[in-house]
Amino acid sequence: MKNTFGNSISVTLFGESHGEYIGATIDGLASGIEINHDYIANMLTLRRPDGDISTPRKENDDYKIISGVIENKTTGTPITVLIPNENIKSGDYSQMKTVARPSHADYTAECKYHGYQDSRGGGHFSGRITAALVAAGAICKYALEQKGIYIGTHVKKCACVSDREFDNLTEDIRALNGKTFAVLDEKTEKTMKEAILSASADGDSVGGVLETAIIGMPEGVGEPWFDSVEGMISHIMFSVPAVKGIEFGAGFAISDMRGSVANDQMYIENGKVVTATNNNGGINGGITNGMPIIFRTAIKPTPTIFKPQNTIDFKTMTETVITPTGRHDPAIVHRARVVQDAASAIAICDMLAMRFGTDWIK
Ligand SMILES: Cc1cc2nc3c(=O)[nH]c(=O)nc-3n(C[C@H](O)[C@H](O)[C@H](O)COP(=O)(O)O)c2cc1C
Repeated sequence: MKNTFGNSISVTLFGESHGEYIGATIDGLASGIEINHDYIANMLTLRRPDGDISTPRKENDDYKIISGVIENKTTGTPITVLIPNENIKSGDYSQMKTVARPSHADYTAECKYHGYQDSRGGGHFSGRITAALVAAGAICKYALEQKGIYIGTHVKKCACVSDREFDNLTEDIRALNGKTFAVLDEKTEKTMKEAILSASADGDSVGGVLETAIIGMPEGVGEPWFDSVEGMISHIMFSVPAVKGIEFGAGFAISDMRGSVANDQMYIENGKVVTATNNNGGINGGITNGMPIIFRTAIKPTPTIFKPQNTIDFKTMTETVITPTGRHDPAIVHRARVVQDAASAIAICDMLAMRFGTDWIK
């Protein structure tokens, strides 16, 4: 029953949506890594709800680091980040104590924790917990940038509206990291937001696709079998609530290609091995080949919607109809984008530490 990710560098998440605090403990990070508070605060801001397209539950995320850091440098011992929950309305959830929201984790939590789970606001399964993941990931992401490794994610698709493809990755990543609504083509922002608002007005929700690029990765990172780069990234991505699929490089489309098209032909450019295409998403045999790591996740529509839906009361074992109340995101995808950046940074730090040792990240 553990809630910990990672081998050489691990992250444990704790807390519930309506508890006093949520938080994360990062273990295994080397001593002497700089903690940039502006950077952490900025990533938490990017996760925060944004106007009418997000939940009305707004939190300041006034985090504090209670261990493992002195004078803005890591000490090498476990780092614990605490974030208080301040804007709580638990009354909204009294019905959900025994009546399960379809597609949420109310019923599965009951199956696992037998009535002892904290059901307020979705408890440990709430998207709120991702604030702690973002704080931990921000520490890792900043450390990676000092080593020339950059991560950026865009909303590739939302409510069937598509953003443009990645082009110049260095410039695109820099631009995305400064955006509240992370699209590459400004024109799609308005159309996506209109689609989210339209679903919201209808008491409904929409989903989307996130695409992440990681540049500057050294070659030769990743373990060929169980801790492959795809495996590690998928492992942490499926910890992000609402992620239901992942594909790397050309993804499922590679299965429709001939080998002559799918193969990434190899060249040498300024003494470095490069490929003409990147259908394998920077990974061969579970190991980085030095090309950008590219992957996409499918984010489902927010499960809690304000329409009546058939469900069950798991205490009385009767069928019923639920019309949820409470405060919810009409779409998750635009908020999950910075969560995906943070989660990627944690997985990449762990894989680099496995390959080169924890001091390499310093
Ligand atoms: C940033 C973020 C915000 C979320 N907001 C909500 C929300 O407001 N309402 C909701 O029902 N689910 C929300 N979710 C999704 C649920 O937490 C998630 O669907 C649920 O825990 C079930 O897990 P699964 O979808 O991975 O199966 C959010 C997820 C994330 C990442």
